[in-house]
Amino acid sequence: MDFLNGAKRTHMCGDLRAKDIDNQVTVMGFVAKYRNLGNLMFIDLRDRTGIVQVAFDDSCDASVFEKATTVRNEYVLCVSGKVRSRGGNINANMPTGEVEILASDLKILSEAEITPFVITEDVKAGENLRLKYRYLDLRRNYLQSKLIMRDKITRVVRNYMGDNGFLEIETPFLGKSTPEGARDYLVPSRIHQGEFYALPQSPQIYKQLLMIAGMDRYYQIARCFRDEDLRSNRQPEFSQIDMEMSYVEEPEQVMEIAEGLIREVFRQCKGMELDEHIRRIPYEVAMNKWGSDKPDTRFGLEIHDLSNIVKGCGFSVFDGAIEQGGSVRAINAKGLCSKMTRKDVDGFGEFVKSYGAKGLAYAMYKPDGITSSFFKYLSDEVKESIAKELGAEQGDVIFVVADKNKVVLDSLGALRCHLADKYELYDKSVYDVLWVVDFPLLEYSEEDGRYYAVHHPFTSAKIEDLPLLDTDPLKVRANAYDLVINGQEAGGGSIRIHDCKMQQKLFSILGFSSEDIAARFGFFVDAFRYGTPPHGGLAFGLDRLVMLITGTDNIKDVIAFPKVQNASCLMTDAPSRVEDKQLQELAITVPPEEKE
Ligand code: AMO
Repeated sequence: MDFLNGAKRTHMCGDLRAKDIDNQVTVMGFVAKYRNLGNLMFIDLRDRTGIVQVAFDDSCDASVFEKATTVRNEYVLCVSGKVRSRGGNINANMPTGEVEILASDLKILSEAEITPFVITEDVKAGENLRLKYRYLDLRRNYLQSKLIMRDKITRVVRNYMGDNGFLEIETPFLGKSTPEGARDYLVPSRIHQGEFYALPQSPQIYKQLLMIAGMDRYYQIARCFRDEDLRSNRQPEFSQIDMEMSYVEEPEQVMEIAEGLIREVFRQCKGMELDEHIRRIPYEVAMNKWGSDKPDTRFGLEIHDLSNIVKGCGFSVFDGAIEQGGSVRAINAKGLCSKMTRKDVDGFGEFVKSYGAKGLAYAMYKPDGITSSFFKYLSDEVKESIAKELGAEQGDVIFVVADKNKVVLDSLGALRCHLADKYELYDKSVYDVLWVVDFPLLEYSEEDGRYYAVHHPFTSAKIEDLPLLDTDPLKVRANAYDLVINGQEAGGGSIRIHDCKMQQKLFSILGFSSEDIAARFGFFVDAFRYGTPPHGGLAFGLDRLVMLITGTDNIKDVIAFPKVQNASCLMTDAPSRVEDKQLQELAITVPPEEKE
């Protein structure tokens, strides 16, 4: 193995072009591929910018050629030589394909054992093996390009926020549990045995305290920790672009700043101008039309309420749902009849069951007549009214769910997205950006017999709805807003409560006793007593934004060292057992390790 011995890199591998021909260059990187043709040897050298071909022939020193023949995949090299044209052997598939380096010197900086999988773009190894050797998988351009884009996005964020008067301020990791909705990750204290810090689910309380502290405008690229079930767009630790600003009272004031940031990110990182007017969709409309508070409006399949049409129709499933305060709603899968088999339709029935629906009624408008699971129970008049409402005609399939409103909307909302994915009903290059506004402030859990904050307990109510807080709390709308991109919640925020009495009132509506409030948020409620500017903010999910910009639907692709579904890290084996001594210091006892 050789030392660099003062050698300096002059170029990155992926940057070399025809304009560099005849220049003397030094590049460094990993061996992606080598071919020994006897008196001619080629090495593809890879760094994070790309790959360049290096040639060794009889013009090089015999010792250099000899050393080149010992090189294997993933060896780390320093190569010096002259750039030359590849003449007739241009590789149009590579950005550097017009040139190669004719080597005059070679340093082997590190040898490499045979890797557990071959590192190529069309990698064959399974995901778990690649996660175990994540540092090797990260050598692939597929992943590197996403981390490079992540870096670019965070730089745009820092510039934009700085230009708009926001200060980047760090907040603690070791803090007190804040009620954000998910489970906390707890950290035991050694000095205060039996006590725990909570890792932040978000810096919500700190950023509001920064407004009380007079910092005026704050932002942070904040790491957040939530012990919740993982999905393809969720990780237990993730990053937010978190912001808060003082002297704002209207959601639009925060939305304007946040929207400006998203426009800038799309402009600089995607070369794309977003629509001049980004739609604001009231929560009510989003739920009724698309069955979701993060609607994907890149395709139709809108939900129609058939309750008034089918009321009293005599079909017990429909009548029963309506009588119990629920509804009967439907979507029209336009033109999809010829693409759907009965088996597909049965599959959709199973699909909606996971959203609580007891069944999925359908009518397939086939060329030779209608095949339906429920038309036999309805009069011609009702059938015609349904078809009219849904614009159903030959070639269409309609799907109907009758149940409690939540079940109906959840089921049809999910089914429309499922159909759109399965039948490719939208253009993947289109970005559908919208705001959902006018969320309800509270929701009621029958199971727990109490109210929960739809966003979080620091969200303010619309001033005009305040009287309803005592009479009809579920009707109160919040000053909250979510930015939705392609049916994913990219970010959300609100105008906060800045009055100590109101904050206390909300905590008590949420079922916290005065003692609870004092013990859990006493410091926070107290702070409001000493002068609190009206304030509001928002947080974007950085990982989600990078996913959307780079076009991946796997959050692991945009995080250097992600966790898997069961929240473990396959590379480090975290979480793991710790030494007894550590546990003793923390006064923690754990169940004995189960032997396999
Ligand atoms: P919220 O909980 O909506 O708001 O989070 C803001 C954004 O963070 C992203 N996000 C996640 N990304 C990856 N993995 C997760 N587990 C995960 N959970 C959330 C989403 C989401 O829109 N304090 C408030 C913000 C505020 O009111 O200012 C908050 O945390 O993109």
